[in-house]
Amino acid sequence: MTNKKEDNLMEKIVSLAKRRGFVFQGSEIYGGLAGTWDYGPLGLALKNNIKNLWWQKFVLDREDMYGLDAAIIMAGRAWEASGHVAGFADPMVECEKCHKRFREDQTDGKCPECAGNLSQARQFNMMFKTQIGAVEDSSATVYLRPETAQGIFVNFKNVLDAYHPKLPFGIAQIGKAFRNEITPRDFVFRTREFEQMEIEYFTKEENWQDNFTALHKEMRSYIESLGIPSDKVYDLEVPEEDRAFYSKRTIDLEFDYPFGRKELCGLAYRTNYDLSQHAEFSGKDQNYFDEQTGEKFIPHVIEPSFGVDRLVLAVLTSAYTEDELGGEPRSYLKLNYNVAPIKAAIFPLLKNKPELVDKARELYRMLKREVGQVAFDDNGNIGKRYRRQDEIGTPYCITVDFDTLGEKPELLDTVTVRDRDTGDQQRLKISELVEFLKSK
Ligand code: GLY
Repeated sequence: MTNKKEDNLMEKIVSLAKRRGFVFQGSEIYGGLAGTWDYGPLGLALKNNIKNLWWQKFVLDREDMYGLDAAIIMAGRAWEASGHVAGFADPMVECEKCHKRFREDQTDGKCPECAGNLSQARQFNMMFKTQIGAVEDSSATVYLRPETAQGIFVNFKNVLDAYHPKLPFGIAQIGKAFRNEITPRDFVFRTREFEQMEIEYFTKEENWQDNFTALHKEMRSYIESLGIPSDKVYDLEVPEEDRAFYSKRTIDLEFDYPFGRKELCGLAYRTNYDLSQHAEFSGKDQNYFDEQTGEKFIPHVIEPSFGVDRLVLAVLTSAYTEDELGGEPRSYLKLNYNVAPIKAAIFPLLKNKPELVDKARELYRMLKREVGQVAFDDNGNIGKRYRRQDEIGTPYCITVDFDTLGEKPELLDTVTVRDRDTGDQQRLKISELVEFLKSK
């Protein structure tokens, strides 16, 4: 359920995201293109951190995962095989008065805009279809992928032949996907262009449940590692009538967004449906050969699927905090260190003292090299700089002052380090800073 307070929270997050360069409306100067969003420098850094943490956990830290980066444009036949040409459709209704179109499940029988009567539902395929090359025939019809998953399935055999992995193993991919949503909404939650992080995990049929359970646990631990509280993430066992056509079991992991409890990511048991379909439509064998038993079979698949943009929004929502510091109200992003776009901001106490600015710049360059994702800020008074960094979620502000330069000889080459959440400051040696930040 949404209420005024939560609508307000969404407004605050969208406004902060725009003002501070996280996320802008796509094609904004041309009036905005609905369902598209552009990430600015800070949003991109946040998103890259979320993706890198995923890649680290699910690919680099494991021995059973293979990375892939498949093309976004895929052959029409691939989508006939996958079932998307026939089945990837949403029932759509049209208002008889204002002629706006809506997803049937997002209305309650009347037009949400003008309360007019709605037409009968029609199926509306959500794939973006286009032509490739100059010839207009059906073999030139291609689609922008509506899920990265199929790029993985069509490369299953390539990975098998190149690396000879033993079951179980997974292929992981991060990339863009496209859906022609009838009613994009809720900021970056439901968009027409978005980014997915997906794994197809191939297993013997008899082991699907164990792998399903193990991956479910890993998904929850990844989500928690981003600073999204576990008690705001719910497992929804999706009933058969609501499952995608390829799935025999699905758990949606839902999150309490300000606009309601909605899907954050999903875990599906896709059986051997996709590979079997590709074997049939392409005529190319998709069997795995088990050297131990001498059996040939098409493996079954467990699919953890994440929407990156939905994670970005869940991270921002979880981090947005209003409190009082030093008797003043403040709003800030209480981001986990690992996702924060800037880990530390380095200030000279005063902007007009070259000796402070030079020292702070030298420190900034050193930390940029050693830690990365740090910023230099000498704009406005120190209180303003703290607030600005708090608002974008920077965990630490490091200030170079006269004591750093040796005004009190015992404090030479020390700086103040201010903690975002408490506002408390400590004095550390410059030589301790890299270790201090890396330990977070
Ligand atoms: N591959 C599952 C999905 O895109 O929802």
